[in-house]
Amino acid sequence: LLPLLAAGGCPMARDTQTRSVGTGGATLIAGSASRSMATSVERDLGRRFAAATIERFPDGEVSVCLEEPVRGEEVILLAATAPPVNDHLIELLALADACRRADAARIVAIVPYFGYARSDRRDGRRTPIMASLIAELTEHAGIDHVVTVDVHTPALEGFFRIPVDNLTAIPDLAGALGERLRNVAGNAVIVAPDLGAVRLANRYATKLDLPVAVCHKRRLGGAEVSVSRITGDVAGRRCIIIDDMISTGGTIVEGIRALNDAGAMPAHIVAATHAVLVPGALDKIGNAGVRELLVTDSIEPRGDPTARLQPTVISIAPLLATAIRRLLDGGSLRDLA
Ligand code: R5P
Repeated sequence: LLPLLAAGGCPMARDTQTRSVGTGGATLIAGSASRSMATSVERDLGRRFAAATIERFPDGEVSVCLEEPVRGEEVILLAATAPPVNDHLIELLALADACRRADAARIVAIVPYFGYARSDRRDGRRTPIMASLIAELTEHAGIDHVVTVDVHTPALEGFFRIPVDNLTAIPDLAGALGERLRNVAGNAVIVAPDLGAVRLANRYATKLDLPVAVCHKRRLGGAEVSVSRITGDVAGRRCIIIDDMISTGGTIVEGIRALNDAGAMPAHIVAATHAVLVPGALDKIGNAGVRELLVTDSIEPRGDPTARLQPTVISIAPLLATAIRRLLDGGSLRDLA
């Protein structure tokens, strides 16, 4: 251990990633929840991610060590705050702090799934605004620029004083939906499962040239919601339910119940950017009568071969690779948002 430390190496270098080559003033580093994504991005980008050791101490604390110098470099951290969200969030902050203390010139955090984004306001009780707190922590850790993907609410940007770019996977998911729609009978309709998803639904609807229906949802608890009514014509129509994320599946299941009551065609298609999918969610959605679930790999698929429903994963690696290329070239991300 001592010779390693004396040489400036990391004491726990078991779980490291590959070394960056020919970075030319920029270093790419992946968090542990985004390693497969980093491998895909490497292929697209033609440049490799730098080695970093990310481990847990026996008591659960996060241990991070950069294996290569970043002094004077622009660092791109690719780190989804996927479940377990708290661990991956602390990891992101630790990586940023390590880069800052190692004198990186600029740190850009690409966070394909931004946890706690739903906590964007007080709900009338004595609650925190976690998204705001995390924005502050992010800046405090030395991050200069944040890039998200289909973040729960674009208003999140207002919590930050640093630049925030919110990319979208809608073109990728809408492209896949368009292929499915060629093979399904009946008129289709895009369904927003709650009022918060209307903006998203409108974007899908514009891409696919379909009408929009909206479920009026009320959240009763973490896993419990109720839909009181539906605005829009769904009777006899094929429903494409879209959302930014699926966690317990409660929103989708309750939406389907209301759509079925309103006479929608059975066998719905669901598309969501972030497959949080807590244990049991896939069975729950499958049992509710979902014909296909399309998600992205913003959260790396954990796979449950026994689940009744197996999601189709559309990769956003090309989107992220394009964004990184533009960030390194000083280009605009506008048309990726
Ligand atoms: C809520 O506003 C979000 O957009 C999702 O609809 C919701 O968080 C999904 O969670 P769940 O699958 O647990 O209902």
